[in-house]
Amino acid sequence: MESDGTRSTYTFSTNYGVPFRPQWSLFLGEFAGRPGVRMLEIGSFEGQSAIWFLENIVTGAGSSITCVDLFLPLYSDRFDQNIAASGMAARVTKLRGDSKEVLPSLAPLSFDVLYVDGGHCEEEVWWDALQAWRLAKPGAIIIFDDYLWESQLPPEKRPQRAIDRFLARRSGRLELMHKDYQVIVRKLPSPPFRRFRRLCSKLFRRTVALGRTRMNP
Ligand SMILES: C[S@@+](CC[C@H](N)C(=O)[O-])C[C@H]1O[C@@H](n2cnc3c(N)ncnc32)[C@H](O)[C@@H]1O
Repeated sequence: MESDGTRSTYTFSTNYGVPFRPQWSLFLGEFAGRPGVRMLEIGSFEGQSAIWFLENIVTGAGSSITCVDLFLPLYSDRFDQNIAASGMAARVTKLRGDSKEVLPSLAPLSFDVLYVDGGHCEEEVWWDALQAWRLAKPGAIIIFDDYLWESQLPPEKRPQRAIDRFLARRSGRLELMHKDYQVIVRKLPSPPFRRFRRLCSKLFRRTVALGRTRMNP
């Protein structure tokens, strides 16, 4: 049964993700109960969405969530208390820091579900989107929050333009599953010719680099 994530033991000062739970259940339902699911959340705040994902999606044996956030002092304590109250702390990895520094340290192709809800400026969302793509396994689902957030702000202060650019750049390599206030995509497996082309260009770059070293020992 779906949990409402509102146990009286939790302390949340907002309800950011609550309206989206029905669509998360719909689009992420395939992962519920599956063993070894790995989720990445960029922007965890007080842990409300992370706890809902833990209770409803990342539920299979050995499944886990990695939470990346600046974790500013007051909210970091709240996050810790809420995660402890959920009884699922053992399945949570908390990574404190700017996503610009933290995400590059994570292994590529290692997450099944990714939630992008960190910094909201165009440039921050663009960075998080590119990293989410790098970190997503083929077949993974990426959710972007706040596509339609604060339309009165200039475009560089909100996520929309970065998400549009991401959708255009990755077109043909993703399936657009949902586009409304949130945008939900699936990363399609690369066709064999694309993998072959990537391998060839890697080999080419290595050969050129080797040649340069030999010419200038
Ligand atoms: C809207 S809140 C996340 C809400 C949470 N997903 C939920 O629904 O409960 C956005 C979070 O992103 C974090 N954040 C903002 N900029 C960030 C950055 N550059 N790197 C990492 N986290 C960032 C903030 O600290 C804040 O906690």
